[in-house]
Amino acid sequence: MNSAAPPSKDLAAVKGTKDILPGEVEVWQRVEAEAKRLFELYGFRELRAPVIEPTELYLKGTGETTDIVTKEMYTFTDKSGRSITLRPEYTPSVARAIVEHRLDLLGTPMRYYYIGPMFRYDKPQKGRYRQFHQIDIEVFGEKDPAVDAEIVEMADSLLRRLGVRGTETLVNSVGCRACRPAYGRDLKARAEAVRDRLCEDCRRKVEANPLRIFDCKVEGCRAEARNFPKITDYLCEECRDHFARFRGCLDLLGVAHRPEPNLVRGLDYYTKTIFEIVAGEGGQQNAVLGGGRYDDMMKDLGGPDICGTGFAMGLERLIALLDVKPEPRKFVYLIHVGEEAKTRAAVAARDLRAAGMEALLEFGVRNFKSQFARANKLGAGWALIIGEDEIRGGLYKVKDMATGDQKDVRPEGVVEFLRPRLEG
Ligand code: HAM
Repeated sequence: MNSAAPPSKDLAAVKGTKDILPGEVEVWQRVEAEAKRLFELYGFRELRAPVIEPTELYLKGTGETTDIVTKEMYTFTDKSGRSITLRPEYTPSVARAIVEHRLDLLGTPMRYYYIGPMFRYDKPQKGRYRQFHQIDIEVFGEKDPAVDAEIVEMADSLLRRLGVRGTETLVNSVGCRACRPAYGRDLKARAEAVRDRLCEDCRRKVEANPLRIFDCKVEGCRAEARNFPKITDYLCEECRDHFARFRGCLDLLGVAHRPEPNLVRGLDYYTKTIFEIVAGEGGQQNAVLGGGRYDDMMKDLGGPDICGTGFAMGLERLIALLDVKPEPRKFVYLIHVGEEAKTRAAVAARDLRAAGMEALLEFGVRNFKSQFARANKLGAGWALIIGEDEIRGGLYKVKDMATGDQKDVRPEGVVEFLRPRLEG
């Protein structure tokens, strides 16, 4: 254990953020690699947008009455006086990039993915951070409900590849601009009738956007919301048909799911399909992933009338569900005693690395015994020993750390000797 004092409070990591250290980072790398590999199989390509965006992008894209925009954004004025926001979500950035670069004119499939940090000034707790990471995917220009089902199947497939069990897929439809107004009126009337029983925040939502009452985490408000009218009873024919066909495709693809009429998602832009994949028991359920269709966002941002659908998965929440131990690394530890041996070890390490093998050499540990103990402690697969005797005799010693077997190998034969043994 390190006995050094922890940094003073002022220098510790910002509340709601955390370091991902070696030992844990390997699990992240594995998940990221698996996700990228899978998404590319579905024709997705990576699109990297900046971490900072103009604040208006979220006012127009995410929606002015959402919790994200009203309470959670990291917004600041930069030196030019422009209002800038650390992205709280990725979807508006992709829509902006398409409009800005007219990616819709390229003729390539508009299927994009991205993995990276998002920022929300929320109350930190288990599974909720202020800097967290999302795996985000978006598809543009595909109206068919089959594509909504395809991305849910892709999410499901990723979870299964990673060995995640016990999740549930919830689906709903939030209708469109044609069917939502009538629902909004009835919902508002109902919310007004129980206004006194709602929290202060939700009382404000009754006027601004009563749908957002469903997002409230206060149990009293949740109980009231359970008796509110259901959006699915108000869907127009087109939305009803879209939802039925979406569910039919999920069945065909073998994706188990449950319609959840109280699911609304905390964002304003959704139209028609929405879904979440949740994990955990009863009231403690946490969304690992959420998404849906947003057919109006692009034109609301002043771009062409192109529909979109997608989802984002929370990496911290996903990784908390995994039961994986990082694979032990196979590497060579170079033991060197004396000045000439040190330079020879540096050359040997360079050659091993050039041949694709991990080689570790340390300079602070002096004698043979302590270097050997380090090799053992760090879990080296092999040790390469270069001392005065080895230099004089023209043969280095190569030791299998698991069996203790030792061989003399010519310096120029080390790479050839170790390569098959480290790969195997
Ligand atoms: P969201 O539901 O706000 O949707 O976030 C998606 C996922 O990100 C959540 O299900 C959760 O796993 C994770 N997440 C959100 N906030 C936090 C937090 N504070 N700490 C840890 N994890 C968190 C969106 O962001 C939409 N952009 C998804 C989407 C893409 N819709 C269409 N395309």
